[in-house]
Amino acid sequence: MRLLLPLAILAATLAVGTAHAADLPAAAAVCANCHGTDGRKDGPIPAIAGKPAVLIASKLRDFKADKIANATVMPRLVKGLTEAEIDTVATYFAAIR
Ligand code: HEC
Repeated sequence: MRLLLPLAILAATLAVGTAHAADLPAAAAVCANCHGTDGRKDGPIPAIAGKPAVLIASKLRDFKADKIANATVMPRLVKGLTEAEIDTVATYFAAIR
């Protein structure tokens, strides 16, 4: 019995993951954990979907260069992305309407 609930949650998570996996770039998968695959998860995380790609990319580069005061997780996260990956994820989230 104790195993059933975690397994059900895992199965549900995998099902949701597969539904979006087709167009979710690898570099954007980590973003989806917090911002949602559609870039507009409810809660304290800011929505990023549908903003101009140049704006998202420049924000990410500012995080990477530690130019955004009071940021929490983003500077550390973006440091792991290459310049090309920054453009890829920015384009992906910008394209969501
Ligand atoms: C661990 C959760 C988490 C992950 C993973 C994450 N973010 Fe964020 N994101 C945040 C939080 C929280 C903020 C608010 C700034 C801060 O505290 O760092 C934010 C802010 C942003 C902003 C600025 C939004 C604005 O309007 O100011 C952008 C753009 C962004 N994230 C894009 C991304 C992208 C692209 C990825 C994947 C590479 C990503 N985030 C991964 C939590 C996350």
